[in-house]
Amino acid sequence: FKEPLRVVVSGAAGQISYSGLLSKLLNGDCFGRDTPIELRLLEIPPAVRACEGVVKELHDCAFPLLKDIKITTEADEAFDGVDYAFLVGAFPRKKGMERSDLLQRNKDIFVKQGKSLNRFGKETTKVVVVGNPANTNALICSEYAHSLPKKNFSCMSRLDHNRTISQVAKHTGATHVKNCCIFGNHSPTMVPVVEPATLETKEGLTVAADCLLTSVSKEMITDTVRQRGSEIIAFRGLSSALSAAKAAVDHVKDWASGTQPGEFVSMGVCSDGSYGVPEGLFSSYPVVCKGGEWSIVHGLGLSEAQKEAIEISAKELLKEAEMVL
Ligand code: NAI
Repeated sequence: FKEPLRVVVSGAAGQISYSGLLSKLLNGDCFGRDTPIELRLLEIPPAVRACEGVVKELHDCAFPLLKDIKITTEADEAFDGVDYAFLVGAFPRKKGMERSDLLQRNKDIFVKQGKSLNRFGKETTKVVVVGNPANTNALICSEYAHSLPKKNFSCMSRLDHNRTISQVAKHTGATHVKNCCIFGNHSPTMVPVVEPATLETKEGLTVAADCLLTSVSKEMITDTVRQRGSEIIAFRGLSSALSAAKAAVDHVKDWASGTQPGEFVSMGVCSDGSYGVPEGLFSSYPVVCKGGEWSIVHGLGLSEAQKEAIEISAKELLKEAEMVL
């Protein structure tokens, strides 16, 4: 067995944690079956009792990798010596609430957690923000955790990425689709890009997805991916949780242990100015990961329409940033 990892999950009593994030972590799906885990579950006081119930269930699963588990409502306690933080807990958008109200309520949460990470995090602590508005929350958190490198912060666009992969597979009847990507904000302005994707046909041949996709099917894929979150809410009465939990694990697994050779994935990371997104904003990009580090894939060919769409999404990110910083 390796040394245990200390992993923080905020919003641990919520849907995403319950519908797979916690069990996948303890099953070894993220960090391997040889890595014990010390879980720190960060919650707010009204959710502590429910969280205690979740902890009882986790014990009942008898995961061999569960080394230690603690619930806390104190960010400082949660982040002390943390290796990986899944920041899932966020204030939900309520009826009649403006987006600016949502941004403000979440700002308070991520300022506090950022300050706490600043004091108690490590040079190597890696953070993924899942709670919405994820990109701007990640920006706030990283600003207030200024003693940690910016590259240690990310936000999740992997669910949008996985949805794109799945839609390409559906429209082409293929398997093993890879190298789709998402640019921009995790919002309806996001820009799914399928042109670089490759896939395996039923006959076992690897071909460019673009050969099998019409412009109509590409538009359908973009619309479906952009609206999928709302579609799930319309059907379930609740937002995506099972698929979000899987995506969060995919995101951190690839970050920690590397992407497959010849493959890129989507992560929300601090922009270096590439693809027209102003430097410093947290935008989704195609990335490759190696040795625990991500790097943006540069030089993908994009159409003028895609470049304009990324500009629109970047403007939205800038507007959000101006509202909270
Ligand atoms: P949920 O409402 O079921 O659970 C949220 C949990 O966060 C609750 O247990 C709540 O008590 C806790 N919480 C609230 N404020 C907190 C704080 N300051 N510190 C610690 N915990 C706190 O929500 P669910 O479905 O688990 O989703 C969580 C977040 O993830 C939401 O913001 C949702 O919009 C977002 N999300 C993001 C996706 C993405 O692709 N980036 C996909 C799906 C959801």
